[in-house]
Amino acid sequence: MAFIEIEHLEKTFQSKSGDTEALRDVSFSIEQGEIFGVIGLSGAGKSTLVRCINLLEKPSGGRVIIDGRELMKLSDSKLRLARREIGMIFQHFNLLMQRTVLDNVCFPMEIAGIRKREAREKALNYLEQVGLSDKASAYPAQLSGGQKQRVAIARVLASKPRILLCDEATSALDPQTTQSILRLLRQINEKYRITMVVITHEMRVVEQICDRVAVLEYGRIVETGRTREVFDEPKTEAARRLIYTREYTDIESEGSGI
Ligand SMILES: Nc1ncnc2c1ncn2[C@@H]1O[C@H](COP(=O)(O)OP(=O)(O)OP(=O)(O)O)[C@@H](O)[C@H]1O
Ligand SMILES: [Mg+2]
Repeated sequence: MAFIEIEHLEKTFQSKSGDTEALRDVSFSIEQGEIFGVIGLSGAGKSTLVRCINLLEKPSGGRVIIDGRELMKLSDSKLRLARREIGMIFQHFNLLMQRTVLDNVCFPMEIAGIRKREAREKALNYLEQVGLSDKASAYPAQLSGGQKQRVAIARVLASKPRILLCDEATSALDPQTTQSILRLLRQINEKYRITMVVITHEMRVVEQICDRVAVLEYGRIVETGRTREVFDEPKTEAARRLIYTREYTDIESEGSGI
């Protein structure tokens, strides 16, 4: 059995204006240490999918099995423990603006009941690993987007996750900063063997760090395979469309640089 097994996952949102089937019979598996990408157009269900992996969103059907444990069958206390092993980073960083960088990184350790001094020591170590030692006493508002994401990464490392879910983690960053964050994620993946799920609409991100990729369209996985193979020879119209869009974007951004 793979480290992460998603089986027949369904998610329907109910509202007065009608039901939205955000996920339809989604199944795939991810090996430990793998970096797995999920691509799809806006509204395809990418965020819903990652939120279902850590049960931030309750699936309407199907199973999420992590390291042999079916999350929806766990007691509340066991689920809390299981979720601690799943970290998440976001497009807009989600830092605590009233706290310093150091205190942001200390936060998950405080919640876990680690003593203040020990937490500070560990936090400084994580900040060093993300290259932000000199910003420990700064506030998030004083940082660039890339630096903010580094703080978020240091904070997530402090909770010692075995899985890291990245929802558009580089989408608010310029291409060069994106590169540096991707390099950092790669290092972390290798050093701590953290399994990563990378949700993005940026094809370059997938090409650069994902071992495998799944293409989501209208809540269904229509294609999945090794990144190189899917990019070189997309089999579905949905994948082709995403990959061609990448090329158009390249042309546009070259043009606008003049
Ligand atoms: N809380 C919610 N209530 C109702 N509908 C929702 C909710 N969250 C998501 N949806 C719907 O589910 C579908 C999938 O949304 P989701 O946010 O997962 O897409 P996405 O692929 O992450 O898009 P984007 O690339 O724009 O972030 C959309 O039709 C969306 O409107
Ligand atoms: Mg989304």
